[in-house]
Amino acid sequence: MKTNKLLIAIDGPAGVGKTSVGKALALKYGLGFLSTGIMYRCLGWKALNSKVNLQDEEQVYQVAKNIVWDFEKEEDSNLRVLIDGQYLGDSLLSEEVARAASITSALPKARAVITEKQKALALEGGIVMEGRDIGTVIAPKAPLKFYLTASAEARAKRRVLQLKEKGQEANYDEILKSIISRDERDSSRKTAPLKPSEDAILIDTSFLTLEEVINKVLELSRTNAS
Ligand code: DC
Repeated sequence: MKTNKLLIAIDGPAGVGKTSVGKALALKYGLGFLSTGIMYRCLGWKALNSKVNLQDEEQVYQVAKNIVWDFEKEEDSNLRVLIDGQYLGDSLLSEEVARAASITSALPKARAVITEKQKALALEGGIVMEGRDIGTVIAPKAPLKFYLTASAEARAKRRVLQLKEKGQEANYDEILKSIISRDERDSSRKTAPLKPSEDAILIDTSFLTLEEVINKVLELSRTNAS
């Protein structure tokens, strides 16, 4: 398999392990890795900081179109996203930013700006991209597409463990509620809703460890890529 220009798409809901799986694939094949949700989180963060109405398509579009994007390749193949020359790091991980990203990413005009940028990155190839619409909209011709799923309960349990490992407070019921409402928003929007493309390989990770998922995806990538 020629891998230098290979394009791999990974889609699925929040908290399903797309980033860990994507990074493992990128390292294996010497590709870059982009978590496309980071770009929507940057938009959500900037919309919050600009104090625009998150539901107002025109206002959010003005914010989106004025963002200057830069991508820096890190040692582990990850593409670090900079907005207006700034790396936002952990400030993108709050529930408030996640919610703002989920709301603003449903607005077609703002979304189109980010979609265009991501399509250009996909066209260059040599990258694993993870998100919600990679296999359906950003890179419909990607030779290798995965769609990861897991029950909302399994994902909420994982998130609680992650937060506790970091010594942070975690309320299972609140996290489950937020996961369910984000799934609902991401799947029911009109533009590029969360859904598997017809040719994606579906993997339910509810009862698998991360290591098992990574091994499965690596195995399937060997047998399915041409
Ligand atoms: O993957 P994430 O949780 O960082 O994504 C944040 C939000 O961005 C998510 O609620 C939906 C949106 N998103 C999207 O609409 N399309 C993508 N390709 C990636 C993320």
